Amino acid sequence: MIDTDWKALVAAASRARRAAYAPYSGYQVGAAVLAGSGRIFEGCNVENASFGLALCAERSAVAQLVASGERILLAVAVVTAGPEPGAPCGLCRQMLAEFTDDIPIALAVAGDVDPRKMTSLSDLLPQPFRGDLLRH
Ligand code: THU
Repeated sequence: MIDTDWKALVAAASRARRAAYAPYSGYQVGAAVLAGSGRIFEGCNVENASFGLALCAERSAVAQLVASGERILLAVAVVTAGPEPGAPCGLCRQMLAEFTDDIPIALAVAGDVDPRKMTSLSDLLPQPFRGDLLRH
């Protein structure tokens, strides 16, 4: 997305990461998603004593976007601990694919001002499950 302000998106994900609730893994993650309106929605991981319930930062951010009435996703930034940035997990890739065919995804580590790596949803999840299959 040519017009995406990646610094702003990384800054929003970094801010969200500081709110992460990750007492079990100690691995804090922040995500920021750019909506069709231009608004940025933030999410962080939320863990639970029942470990399998952990909610990832990316899905948390998408839920914020949807709850605000938005349905269009234009770009994503994810900020993790270092040394290497972490890419969205499989569940999160599928969740992102619900709202877009393809979007750029910036990966950064805490302290970064700019994206460390750029990737895309189509690279990370080339064959998503599509809801239109359910309508036949
Ligand atoms: N996590 C995310 O927030 N996003 C991902 O895409 C991968 C993993 C979180 C879940 C859990 O709280 C912690 O990172 C360790 O897996």
